[in-house]
Amino acid sequence: MYQEVTTMSIDDNAAPVAGFSSPSGGIDLSANTNACGASPAAVAALARAASGLHLYPARFCEPLTRCLARKFELAEEQVLCANGASAIIEFLLRDLPLGAMALWPWPSFVLYEICAKQLGRDIVVASHRDWHTDIDALLRSCTPTVKLILIANPNNPTGTWLKPLEIERLLKRIPRDVLVAVDEAYQEFVVTDEDTSCRSLIERYDNLVIIRSFSKAYGLAGLRIGYALGAAERIAKLRRHCLPFQVSSLAQEAACAALDDEAHLERSRRENAIERARVSSVLGQLGVAVPPSQANFVFLPLSAELVKDVERLAAAHRLLLGRLLPYGLDSALRVSIGSAPDNDRFLTVIARALQIAKNAALCSSSPSPEARQPS
Ligand SMILES: Cc1ncc(COP(=O)(O)O)c(C=O)c1O
Repeated sequence: MYQEVTTMSIDDNAAPVAGFSSPSGGIDLSANTNACGASPAAVAALARAASGLHLYPARFCEPLTRCLARKFELAEEQVLCANGASAIIEFLLRDLPLGAMALWPWPSFVLYEICAKQLGRDIVVASHRDWHTDIDALLRSCTPTVKLILIANPNNPTGTWLKPLEIERLLKRIPRDVLVAVDEAYQEFVVTDEDTSCRSLIERYDNLVIIRSFSKAYGLAGLRIGYALGAAERIAKLRRHCLPFQVSSLAQEAACAALDDEAHLERSRRENAIERARVSSVLGQLGVAVPPSQANFVFLPLSAELVKDVERLAAAHRLLLGRLLPYGLDSALRVSIGSAPDNDRFLTVIARALQIAKNAALCSSSPSPEARQPS
């Protein structure tokens, strides 16, 4: 989402690719958007909303807030809608008391750092455990000046997921004046028999806020709409950072319709799960062990050299992958789960890059003809 799309160099001699899915004419597997597109119900709602463009939207997204409150069985005061989950993240960091610090695991969603830097907030990061968020590392890093802990769950860029029980372990052990914000932007893609969301913890922990997005499983990234759930007092504090009429009527109408379109959500979830399993399995067969992903992308720990080779080859095939330099990672890639043909294109590219690297390694390790001659 925050990649430099314009740095992608397209080799005009590359074979044409069927099923281009990005406006630039290439396949965009960099931004973790919905491979199934937007909910058709949301698109129809947009068309209807167009006749009211001369009017202001609901001041604070009241109709959508009501729908969300009903869906999550919360009071309306416990829901806050804003311009994407990004805006909620900004409100949380803005709300940090002077001199207080924010803490999150590394690596995690790059916007946290971008936003904290813009607002001049101090941050501290905790290390990961095999690319999984490490609750013990977070607990160790939670000094008395830390007043906000942000946890993306599933995590971006690794795709790994923590059970709500693990998050509760953190909540049980930190002081109540530390706010824990669980960013569930990808929650709808989690497939497990257990509880997938921290929603059930809201009643017990008034220092918990859940962040959600309509950009991913609902396919509305272009409209910029997301929300927060939590205790009424916490939500009221965040609401102070909200200006009236910030969320467009189009975004509000489309989000209401998307929320009701369970068929599209289910299809997005199902198709993502099938392709995620297939892509992860093929990568495993190629020798790239990806951490288990519960999101709509996979994380590839590679070498810096291999990342460059894969990117070069991907650009030649008009394929845009998630570069992780802004995350401080030059030896890994994040690749969104796309449609089956788009994923095949990526798998062809990575297989070819690995083969080239293998051949190069064989050449450099085999003795030169001179060396092979008997002395
Ligand atoms: C973990 C995480 N949180 C939040 C967001 C931003 O969501 P939104 O588009 O709703 O601002 C993203 C976007 O990529 C993300 O990866």
